[in-house]
Amino acid sequence: MADIGKDIIRVKQLLLEGKLVAIPTETVYGLAANAQNEKAVLEIFKAKNRPHFDPLIVHVAGIAQAETLATSFPDKAKALAKKFWPGPLTLLLPKKEIVPDLVTSGLNTVGLRCPDHTLTLELLKSLPFPLAAPSANPFGYVSPTTPQHVNEQLGDKVAYILDGGECRVGIESTIIGFENTPTVYRLGGLELEILEPITGPLHVQLHSSSNPHAPGQLQSHYAPLKKIVLGTREQLLAHTTSNDGAIVFQNILANIPATNQIILSPSGNLEEAAQHLFSALRELDKTDINLILAELVPESGLGRAINDRLRRAAAH
Ligand code: TXA
Ligand code: MG
Repeated sequence: MADIGKDIIRVKQLLLEGKLVAIPTETVYGLAANAQNEKAVLEIFKAKNRPHFDPLIVHVAGIAQAETLATSFPDKAKALAKKFWPGPLTLLLPKKEIVPDLVTSGLNTVGLRCPDHTLTLELLKSLPFPLAAPSANPFGYVSPTTPQHVNEQLGDKVAYILDGGECRVGIESTIIGFENTPTVYRLGGLELEILEPITGPLHVQLHSSSNPHAPGQLQSHYAPLKKIVLGTREQLLAHTTSNDGAIVFQNILANIPATNQIILSPSGNLEEAAQHLFSALRELDKTDINLILAELVPESGLGRAINDRLRRAAAH
């Protein structure tokens, strides 16, 4: 098990030594290393059991540092960064040579993001390098939103877990590329409705089977170990087997024992539902229920990203 605490000086020292640490962000916890140290980055892939074709996001202190890593910053990308950084938005930009190919899996773009978390921003500002950091979970499993989630699965692989409490957003960043028309490759913590006034109409390309632009967008992802059955409330109410659990939006299902159910947001608030989604999946995964019924939420705002995660979890 790793030490958990708020000692930024210690975290900085460990990162300077090429070690892995877990860092809080507003979306999910990241498994961080010096993005310019290939040996350290290699340890990230090993610790997560992550295939090398799946590139890492590089975390920066702000636009100025991002500019040291990208050969160009298209106007729309710059406008988004100005408005939404620090925040749950990753921009795919053409990479400079100083970004190791290992980080980008050989792609000529690098995913850049400035996370909105006081501790991690303070850390990034104090470091002489940016941080490569995927979500701090074994490859394919649900992302962690608390230090305890990280400790349970990767506690023996990280030198330290920086404790920033429970993540505020709870689902990963929205990823946008700018090669032709602005394209969303992952729905996430920033809603399309908020981005489009700046970008214009967004193309959404969540996964393509041939030559995926974002290889990590594998259909089966964010998956707990238990089987998930996804549906609308009506579909789930028709389900009749014993010993199941459920993740529901606002109200429990009458056909499942209440003690086996987790309500994401009693008031029907999509932000609150997003924040609790991954904890709920992890919690039910630990119980002895057979399978997890999961209720689709309204397909708007953050609801699109929540449903996307549920679909991937169910594709397992
Ligand atoms: O909110 C987040 O983005 C969190 C926190 C820790 O910042 N990070 C995160 O990283 O979710 P990860 O590695 O779990 O997911 C990153 C996704 C992967 O699907 C990867 O394929 C994609 O970003 N990605 C990274 N760089 C890319 C690039 N250059 N081109 C296309 N996709 C890229
Ligand atoms: Mg991940």
